[in-house]
Amino acid sequence: MNRYRAIYRRKSTREYSDEQLSKGIMKKIRKSVDKIKKLYDDIDMDIKILKRDALKSAVSGFIFDYGKVDSPYYMVVGTEKKKRCAENVGFSVEPVVLDLTRWKIGSCWLGANFDKEKVRKKAGLNEELEPIVLIAFGRTAENKSPWRDNRKNAGRKELSKLLLDETDPLSKKWKKILDAGRYAPSAVNSQPWRFEKEDGLLHLYIAEKQGLLKSTLNKFVNLERLNRIDAGICLSHLKIAADHSSKDLSLKRLEGMEKKDYNYIISLEG
Ligand SMILES: Cc1cc2nc3c(=O)[nH]c(=O)nc-3n(C[C@H](O)[C@H](O)[C@H](O)COP(=O)(O)O)c2cc1C
Repeated sequence: MNRYRAIYRRKSTREYSDEQLSKGIMKKIRKSVDKIKKLYDDIDMDIKILKRDALKSAVSGFIFDYGKVDSPYYMVVGTEKKKRCAENVGFSVEPVVLDLTRWKIGSCWLGANFDKEKVRKKAGLNEELEPIVLIAFGRTAENKSPWRDNRKNAGRKELSKLLLDETDPLSKKWKKILDAGRYAPSAVNSQPWRFEKEDGLLHLYIAEKQGLLKSTLNKFVNLERLNRIDAGICLSHLKIAADHSSKDLSLKRLEGMEKKDYNYIISLEG
């Protein structure tokens, strides 16, 4: 299975078995991490892989059951605190998550509140880096599969709901690419990404408007930051789908793109 296919197979796993992963698999995972291509090269990032026990007391501070995912392994994703660091993390780490799916290993992005300082210390991250998100991973519990068998059950918004008003008509190829974006995981499945096609450009935004769930959640977590991670994940799906369709896309941040109710992320040209 390649990463493109994995986009439609991946789902969040919240129940794991205690089975240890083989040395060979751990080596493959480490290699995937080492090959990460960042969205912004000037933002420092580091990923540490830890077993459950090494992190235990530091991740017990989750708020709501939503955040609690007990897995045998975690990736601790540390980033330098800079503008656009969240979308950089989403974009860089999602290919690793898709590799886990390819290898039939369950995973779940975890952005709920955890004790950042404790996690940073336990993971041995450099002081300049903040653990912004965790990836829970491991073999799934018995009778659970890390693969979604029907994409229709993913609870995703229709493409028409994700297009901004002024958008140009989309070719078949673009529709296929954006479809892969729809299947990105997002915090509380909020799917904040919005698309606008204009000539040869596709602009990616996140919706700022907050429903009741979002405004409640915002009291506990930095939702805009999580939504920026979501946008980066979506962008990585767009790029993987474009590569799969042999469409050469380059990424550009344009000036003067802000809109009311939407935060501009980046544009794709091609
Ligand atoms: C940035 C981010 C943070 C997330 N945080 C959590 C979390 O703290 N706890 C959890 O159970 N799921 C978390 N998730 C998983 C989402 O709830 C899940 O991706 C979404 O509901 C879509 O479902 P799917 O991943 O099965 O397609 C997070 C996902 C993302 C992208």
